[in-house]
Amino acid sequence: MTAVTSGATVWLTGLPSAGKTTIARALAERLRAEGHRVEVLDGDEIREFLSAGLGFSREDRHQNVQRIGFVAELLASNGVKALVPVIAPYADSREAVRKRHQHEGTGYLEVHVATPVEVCSERDVKGLYARQAAGELTGLTGVDDPYEAPTDPDLRIHAHEQGVEESAAALHTLLIERGLA
Ligand SMILES: Nc1ncnc2c1ncn2[C@@H]1O[C@H](COP(=O)(O)OP(=O)(O)OP(=O)(O)O)[C@@H](O)[C@H]1O
Ligand SMILES: [Mg+2]
Repeated sequence: MTAVTSGATVWLTGLPSAGKTTIARALAERLRAEGHRVEVLDGDEIREFLSAGLGFSREDRHQNVQRIGFVAELLASNGVKALVPVIAPYADSREAVRKRHQHEGTGYLEVHVATPVEVCSERDVKGLYARQAAGELTGLTGVDDPYEAPTDPDLRIHAHEQGVEESAAALHTLLIERGLA
């Protein structure tokens, strides 16, 4: 079989601790094993450089998502699978990224990692939920800051009801179905 060389962006949106990064990394491993070029644009790393200086207001979150969307599209249009595990809480921000990809004719998939907030706050990988509860932090997405869940994502993953590999496999299958992997 000839390897498909087309790039695509896979945006994984969801609450803090939903499993976005974990699933993106598992998918990256699968795709690399098949010889695809893959880049994971993780929110935390991006905020250190590309989005340094941006905070967590609505405008700054929007700007952060647009910058990441811009870079993801550049990578994807050059044959890379750009995996983006970034919260992206606002529907209009995500829509703008989808439109940019559409306009450029670049593959784009929106994936909702739909782990409920109760599960996320138990996992609390970065201790954010605990800090919010203790009053040490405000503006936590899904708790005291908005999260607009996608109404019509390309895939909704119930990541609390299945294992990481199962989620990665479902995403991999979707990429293949859409002719993107
Ligand atoms: N079925 C599952 N799918 C995904 N992650 C799971 C699952 N079960 C447990 N986990 C754990 O949940 C945690 C999810 O953390 P992860 O950093 O991937 O979340 P995130 O969505 O990237 O959060 P953030 O927005 O804060 O970066 C990991 O520690 C992971 O091992
Ligand atoms: Mg993450």
